[in-house]
Amino acid sequence: MRSIINEKNLNNKKILLRLDLNVPLEKDKISDTTRIDKILPTLNFLIKEKSKIIILSHVGRPKGKIVKELSLEPIREELQNKLEKKVKLISENIKEIKNKNFFNNYDEEIFILENIRFYSEEEQNDIEFAKLLSSLGDMYVNDAFSCSHRAHASIYELPKFLPSFSGLQLDSEVNALNKITSEITRPITCIIGGSKISTKINVIKNLITKFDNIVIVGGMANNFIEYFGNNVGKSIKEKNCDKIIEEIINLSKKEKCKIIYPQDVVVSKDLNGSPQTKATHEILSDEMILDIGPKTIKEITNIINISKTLLWNGPAGYFENPNFANGSIQIAKKIIENNKANKIFSVAGGGDTVSLLNSLNAVNNFNFVSTAGGAFLEYLEGKTLPGITALN
Ligand code: 3PG
Repeated sequence: MRSIINEKNLNNKKILLRLDLNVPLEKDKISDTTRIDKILPTLNFLIKEKSKIIILSHVGRPKGKIVKELSLEPIREELQNKLEKKVKLISENIKEIKNKNFFNNYDEEIFILENIRFYSEEEQNDIEFAKLLSSLGDMYVNDAFSCSHRAHASIYELPKFLPSFSGLQLDSEVNALNKITSEITRPITCIIGGSKISTKINVIKNLITKFDNIVIVGGMANNFIEYFGNNVGKSIKEKNCDKIIEEIINLSKKEKCKIIYPQDVVVSKDLNGSPQTKATHEILSDEMILDIGPKTIKEITNIINISKTLLWNGPAGYFENPNFANGSIQIAKKIIENNKANKIFSVAGGGDTVSLLNSLNAVNNFNFVSTAGGAFLEYLEGKTLPGITALN
């Protein structure tokens, strides 16, 4: 993997820069800018080198359709303010742009293509689409470690057509995760939460042999609660997971890895309803699980107390509403306390987890914070990520 930082002669070169600008958006407002802030060094480096920059990114999951609410416009504006440079959004259909030489037509220095997932070809890893993208630039840089577990056109296929490099943020994430995985001290605990169940549930099986404790919270915990015979009402969950859960349980027994899932929860009728603590067998059909309850928090903090290394990916509940943020906050507080007392080596990863830690002003109380969620877990599994393979 060659890093762009070591390249000479970038002057006037058109750089296709794949970033992960998948930031949380609430009605056009960015509620956490960490992923933007982290890639500014790469942009500033390319600006200093007088390169011509074309940014590629996705936000959300529009599934190949134009979804107005998932435009990159608010992100363009934020980038422009942070860089103090004009950034222009290319909203035309990139398959129909006749004159692809943007830089001859405009004075702007930085271009950003509209949400790359508005094109179904992106997630299909379409070769022709990748070829078309490659025709826009002279070189390719991947500074989206957090997307590198996706074999998508702008991550996996595109680098085959251009001289390709890693960006500064990708370099730092890979270096940090390599160091962490090679210097790990046991007992090691992984807390996995968040709402992207399908991305994470298959990863767990491969983590069992590497961890002493796996704590399951967030959306995926609902599948476990249901598997053990409880009603989860209107809670988010993934379909057809019983087989994989059974495999996880059996393997964890064999490998002596303790699996912890919630015994009590906080429910409500909807995302803005009033919170009520319940045992997992008491959930009604019109209720949804939105946080973990006090008994579960106690069990998790006990596990944190006996851990020497802790990896955390994904909040315990719907923390965006303060009524359902307590579980995530208590987990964060316990890790911070043990980190300050030098009892634990702690690493957190994932867009939502980073937002949560930012809201608690706690990012600096972790040994390392990765912007990556799914990619972070797959890297821990020991998998080679498609985006990294493509750069090699
Ligand atoms: C992330 O938020 O982890 C990345 O942007 C990848 O998003 P995805 O899970 O929708 O592929």
